[in-house]
Amino acid sequence: MTSDSDVRDRLIAAARDAAHNAHAPYSRFGVGAAVLLTDGSVVTGTNFENASYGLSLCAETVALATVNAQGRLRDVVAIGVIGGMMDGDGKPTGTKPVGPCGRCRQVINEAAQMGKRDIAIWCAGAEGDLHERHLLSELLPHAFGPGDLGID
Ligand code: THU
Repeated sequence: MTSDSDVRDRLIAAARDAAHNAHAPYSRFGVGAAVLLTDGSVVTGTNFENASYGLSLCAETVALATVNAQGRLRDVVAIGVIGGMMDGDGKPTGTKPVGPCGRCRQVINEAAQMGKRDIAIWCAGAEGDLHERHLLSELLPHAFGPGDLGID
């Protein structure tokens, strides 16, 4: 049996690893995301900025796009997210838990709706032991989703 704290530690560690590869030269804010699937596998993503600023991709969205490319959108169980301002070597720093932005919440909702399950989201800082656990339904109540378009 895998406990909730095992899942949390695994996802936060994987998200921290992924954040080392953040391409965030404009904001200098590195984010990592790790997605746990029903079979126990973990898919990661990191933020991917570009010179147009506004077209940047968030870590959670990158990770979930990879999950989708693997045909696994229905299999998302939990997500870990970490982030922080980068130091001079590009390493994210800080202990304040970072949560998914509004757009990412909508993208996570797509996975939740396809899998017909609420998704646990563990948020942590780039360093330290501070963390928060939220359910997607708490972060995005009254969500717009496939049901509004007549799709179940
Ligand atoms: N960012 C994410 O990757 N995920 C979020 O949920 C919040 C913001 C990224 C986007 C941008 O590269 C940087 O953090 C600063 O906004």
